[in-house]
Amino acid sequence: MPPRTPNGSMSDSMQQARPPQQPSVWSFFRAFLRDRQKIGAVAPTSRGVGRRMAQLAGVHEARRVVEFGPGTGAITTQLLAALPPDGRLWAYEIHEPFLDQLRQTFHDPRLTLIGESAEAVRELRTTEAPEGFDAIVCSIPFSLLPPPVTDGILRAAADALRPGGVFVALQYHPTYLAPIMRRHFASVSREFFPWNVPPTLLLTGRGSRSTG
Ligand SMILES: C[S@@+](CC[C@H](N)C(=O)[O-])C[C@H]1O[C@@H](n2cnc3c(N)ncnc32)[C@H](O)[C@@H]1O
Repeated sequence: MPPRTPNGSMSDSMQQARPPQQPSVWSFFRAFLRDRQKIGAVAPTSRGVGRRMAQLAGVHEARRVVEFGPGTGAITTQLLAALPPDGRLWAYEIHEPFLDQLRQTFHDPRLTLIGESAEAVRELRTTEAPEGFDAIVCSIPFSLLPPPVTDGILRAAADALRPGGVFVALQYHPTYLAPIMRRHFASVSREFFPWNVPPTLLLTGRGSRSTG
């Protein structure tokens, strides 16, 4: 049941938020066939892994959260389900057809879709969260990208988080990302989900080493 105000009616944000449709598995697979390097997965992330990402990122008590690479919205759905009514979620997606699909699927006033690459989060901090974001949740396929791109995105994420903020990344490659994350975060923990298609790792970085 959606949360209700003291007089029993649904809150404003819940009245405006329509439940998202099921993300399309076929549109995701077609996008993968067209651009494997950018999309990096054959199917949307499972509901259970998306929910776990929201938990690891502490979204249920967050106010300002960012998602990198929402795709067709599998993780976005779980982030919005956990986010408090007065929370905000900004999502960066560079694949234009996915952006169109997200615009048609999500009508939640807490969500802002941005058609730019994830590094732009640094500028977003200046305008929307001067004290830094609570959490950044990411499913960009880093092991398929040039190393300097990965490093630039991680540095921007570390710069954009508040002290105590959390970075949660989903990765299919078993060993690629953890050493790079350790350059930007004081602690990195891992969880493995063999039943996701494909099997996946969640890496959680805390203690940004950002000096900016
Ligand atoms: C593995 S898919 C994950 C999609 C979805 N989050 C899920 O888990 O089902 C990776 C997504 O990251 C997006 N992406 C890749 N590089 C990006 C970048 N630099 N900035 C923002 N999004 C990016 C791709 O377009 C794609 O939608």
